[in-house]
Amino acid sequence: MTQLTRRTFFEAFAGAAALHAIMASGALASPPADLNRWAQDVADLNRALAAGKIPLLGWQEQITALNTGVSLDALRRYLDFDRLTAAMTFPTNLAETKDPKFPQAVNIAGIERPWFLRFFGMRKGGAIIPHVHNNMVSSHLVMQGAFRTRTFDRVADLPAENAVLLKPTLDQTLSAGGMITMSDDRTNGHWLIAEADRSFTFDVGLVNLSKTRTYAMQANKYNMIFVDPTGKADGRGLVAAPVISFEGAVAKFAAQ
Ligand SMILES: [Fe+2]
Repeated sequence: MTQLTRRTFFEAFAGAAALHAIMASGALASPPADLNRWAQDVADLNRALAAGKIPLLGWQEQITALNTGVSLDALRRYLDFDRLTAAMTFPTNLAETKDPKFPQAVNIAGIERPWFLRFFGMRKGGAIIPHVHNNMVSSHLVMQGAFRTRTFDRVADLPAENAVLLKPTLDQTLSAGGMITMSDDRTNGHWLIAEADRSFTFDVGLVNLSKTRTYAMQANKYNMIFVDPTGKADGRGLVAAPVISFEGAVAKFAAQ
């Protein structure tokens, strides 16, 4: 993998500084009121979680309700999806990303933790390589195309084995309108493979959520740990998934 490709990949998960840079931009001259309401609700939800006013599971439930409660076509227009993703050509099996922005009418001030809005696009066979997260939440709404989508509960860390113990929770094809979420409490791991060219998700996420919740296995600076969840399940249905390098994960799960 070239340095450029590696850098591009990690920029997709860029840390605090970039995540703070969600600036208002008037993507539409006159945004529909209901979608302004949706965007404000998303911002308010993130503000509440960042301030510790709602539990992680509450965020997962509410972002699911919000993002499946609006018209996908209207959401595409509101977030300027077609323009932002038009130039993506997908030369590799890794995702390309672009960050939509909320209009100026939406109050995003004062959210205490870094957060992001992001489109992830892939060609057929492209993958969000399998990983778990430390101290983060995210949601993934399929905007276009379809993904084989696998999620995992993170049952325990196994530092002596350099692995995490996973419980598979979902293995299903999701098409446009389908959605998953993750947090430290539920379905912490995920792995998506595009089943059609120009498949996209729209993600909302917050990072650096907890200063007290610690893990034996340390994440990279993007709150990610790459794992190989393809081993055989034990008698309890649990998989000891070795922690692998980014390069190892790309070689196994996103080879060209
Ligand atoms: Fe993730």
